Order: sequence, then structure tokens, then C-alpha cells
Amino acid sequence: SYFKRGDTGRLLNRFTIDANTMATVATEVITVLVRESIAIVALIAVLFYMSWQLTLIVFIMLPISFITARIVALRLKKINRDTINMNAEMVRVVSETIEGERVVKLFNGYEHETERFVYVNGRLRRFAMRAATANAALSPITQFFISLAVAGVVAMALYQSSVDGLTVGSFAAFLGALAQLFDPIRRLTGMAGTTQRMLVAAESVFSLIDAEVEPEGAKTALPTPVKGNVEYRQVTHAFDGSDNPVVNNLSFSAKSGQTIALVGRSGSGKTTLANMLPRFIVPDSGQVLIDGIDIQDLDLRTLRAQISMVSQDVVLFEGSIRDNVAYGGYSGKTDEEVWAALEAASLADFVRSLPEGLNAPVGEKANMLSGGQRQRLAIARALIKDSPILILDEATSALDNESEWQIQNALDKLMENRTTLVIAHRLTTIQNANSILVLEKGQIAEQGTHQELLNLGGMYASLYNMEFTEKADGEQ
Ligand SMILES: Nc1ncnc2c1ncn2[C@@H]1O[C@H](COP(=O)(O)OP(=O)(O)O)[C@@H](O)[C@H]1O
Ligand SMILES: [Mg+2]
Repeated sequence: SYFKRGDTGRLLNRFTIDANTMATVATEVITVLVRESIAIVALIAVLFYMSWQLTLIVFIMLPISFITARIVALRLKKINRDTINMNAEMVRVVSETIEGERVVKLFNGYEHETERFVYVNGRLRRFAMRAATANAALSPITQFFISLAVAGVVAMALYQSSVDGLTVGSFAAFLGALAQLFDPIRRLTGMAGTTQRMLVAAESVFSLIDAEVEPEGAKTALPTPVKGNVEYRQVTHAFDGSDNPVVNNLSFSAKSGQTIALVGRSGSGKTTLANMLPRFIVPDSGQVLIDGIDIQDLDLRTLRAQISMVSQDVVLFEGSIRDNVAYGGYSGKTDEEVWAALEAASLADFVRSLPEGLNAPVGEKANMLSGGQRQRLAIARALIKDSPILILDEATSALDNESEWQIQNALDKLMENRTTLVIAHRLTTIQNANSILVLEKGQIAEQGTHQELLNLGGMYASLYNMEFTEKADGEQ
């Protein structure tokens, strides 16, 4: 396909090019703003000094002519409004891609998102052309009214010359100063529209520029079929600018099909550890292996094809339910497969109740769906991908008890026959894990099954008892 290597880079490049244009415009705008404002204030002072009567006339006539021009401009406003809407659309495509970065990467959505961006951008460009044409038409109209204002000034000057004896010389000087005033005003008003539109889009685009292009790995193949044995070997990682490693010389392994739970206080490094598996984070030292092969030696696409993820913040993209379940590289799945996934995620009944069914739009920011429904949609997405390895990062933390129970059912189905790394903030959800790792200060403080850790009477046991008490209190 067109996107073979450095897909993310290509995507980012597109945004960067647009962002550069915006940066140039922004700098120019600020310069013009300061320079022209100073010029205007100074010129007005000079005008008042020369003849306050003439100046008053000018300042009565000018607003009238501008208001008239404005009325004409309103007719052309619809075009501008369309442009702004298109801008909002583009910003949404860009920001969805940023927020959904991990989903785009894991579900191979590069091509899909780039296409969308290019499409929206193309439409935006056409609208911008129309707006430019409209602006060009507006200019002669404005100037006609400015001429009217000048005529008024001349009339006043004629009157003054007969009454006060205004000389030709001082009138010429006045007109000279007045003429100088028009240019800065025109430049200022001409600036307003474009500036606003550019700045809106710029904000969202700039945040992407800092992202680095992901390095491709070597092209070692995974032995097929992929079994999904996962091993972390003496992994250490500190984030930039920190001396304290978040993960410190940590090792563990999960056999194919096993569930390993990561438990620990917020900030103990659980997400960091999970993010190493799809190489969202590359550890400073140590290795992560899948079926005995260092993931650093796999190319990203092969690696990420093996991993699904359901996390606390469900990312849904603009589009239909079907688009979101069979997302990105999985859009070729049949309706039957999508329905089967929805069924397993206990979402099929809900989708059937919608008039548009699979084609129902999830709506902007997915406000049509409840938290639990969004979560189940993410589970259906992971089911469609059907990968041997699964990451659940606090997948049930945003839910109330009832939807949590429903989700847990869907998750149990999803976890069947997959190697699963589960991070749960409620310990009741991980009792069946093959092994539970309690993380503290970047290391494994305790390790064992639920029962073993309870018997140990350490940190896990006290966390568990605390939660159990809280829960009992909450239900009374
Ligand atoms: N991208 C990052 N840059 C810098 N620090 C980070 C980053 N991600 C996480 N951290 C820090 O690393 C620590 C562990 O974070 P995390 O792995 O998210 O913990 P957990 O998932 O257990 O709550 C926290 O102190 C967090 O602030
Ligand atoms: Mg976390």
C-alpha cells in the first residue's frame, strides 16, 4: 500500500506543513496589529490638531460608510461561516487523531485518518478560495463609501474656507494626513477574518508537532501462529528529566492465555509497564519479548497486530457504530462479524434498537452513548481485532457497579484464550488472574494468586480489605 514505512511520520508531516503556514500568518498578524494601531493613533492626533471640525466630519462619515459596507458584507457571510465550520471539522479530525493516538496505532487507522484529513483539508481549501473571492469583491464597495466620506470633507473645507479662511495649504496637509490613515485601517480590518480562522486550527495542530517519528524495528518475523507468551526481562525506565526510574529492573512473564494483573497505587508505573508492550514506550534498558523474540526486533506493524487494548478513556471516532467497531485496518470485516462482536460485548440489543442500526452515527464526542456503552463498544473493537494479546488498563474504572458487572461479562469473553495484562482499580475484578503483581516504587513488592496474597497478609491483603469494607459501607 501507499503507506509502508514511517506512517506516523507521514501523517505528522502533513500536519506540520499546515502548522508552519499558520505560524507564519500568526507572526505577521501580530506585527501588523501593533504597527498599524500606533500609526492610527498618531495620525488621529495630528488630524485633530490641524482641524477639529474636519476631523469630526471624517469620524462621523467613516463609521457610516463602514456600516453600509458591512451590510453588504453580511450577504457574503454565509460563505465565511461554511469555512469556519470546515475548520471545526478539520480541528476535530486532527484532535481525534491526537487523543486516539494509541487506538490509531493499535488498530492500524493511519490510512483512514489521513484520508479523512486530506478530504476535509481539500474542502477547506475550496471554501477558503470562495471566501477570498468574496473579500476581493468587498473592497471596491468599501472604497466607494470612503470616497463619499472624502466628498463630505471637501464640502466642509469649502464651507470653512469661506467662513474661517482655511488655506489651501493647510487643507492639503490635512488631506495628506487623512489619506495616510486609510491604509492602516484597511490593513487592520482585512486581517481580522483570516487570523481567527487560522488560530483555531493552529492550536490543535501545534500539539502534534512535538511528537517524534517512531523508529521502525528490524524485520524479524514472529513464528506463526503467534502464541502470545509475554516476558518482561529486567526492564528499567525513567521519564526524561527524572532520576527516579518509574520501572526499576522489573521482570515477570505471562504464558500464552494467562492473565496477569498489575496492582498498585496511582503512579506506581502500571500504565508505563503496559505501554511498553506495543512499544508506545521503549524502556531505557531490559527487554520485552513475545514468544521469545525481543519486540525491538519486530517491525511496529507486526508487533501491534498482536495486541488489543481497552482502556479507561474510550476513544471513539466520528462515524457510525460500524466504523468504530471495525475501525481502521479492520474495516473490511463483514456485518456478521461486527454483529458477533457486538453480541459478545452485550451491545447488540442496544444497536438493534437504533433506527439506523450499525450505521447510526456515534455523534460528536459520542454523547449518544453512555459510559458503559462506550466501554462495550471498545470491547467489541478489540474482539474484532481478535489478537493473541490483550491489555486492559482500568477498563472498568469509569463505571457504576451495575454496568461494571455487565462489562465484566463482556471482558471475560474477550479475555478467553488471550494473554492478558489487566490493570484494575477494583481488586474484585482480578481475583481469577493467574498471577497478581503488586507494584511499588517501580518494583514488584508482592506476587501470587489472589488467595496466596491474602494469606500473605501484606499490602495486597490490606488493599483488598479496605476496598471490601468501603464496598459494604457503600451498599448500606
Ligand atoms: N509520558 C510521561 N512523561 C513523564 N512522566 C510520566 C509519563 N507517563 C507517566 N509518567 C509518570 O510516571 C509515573 C507512573 O505513571 P503510570 O505508569 O501512569 O502509573 P499508573 O498507571 O500506575 O497510575 C507517574 O509518576 C507519572 O507521573
Ligand atoms: Mg495508569
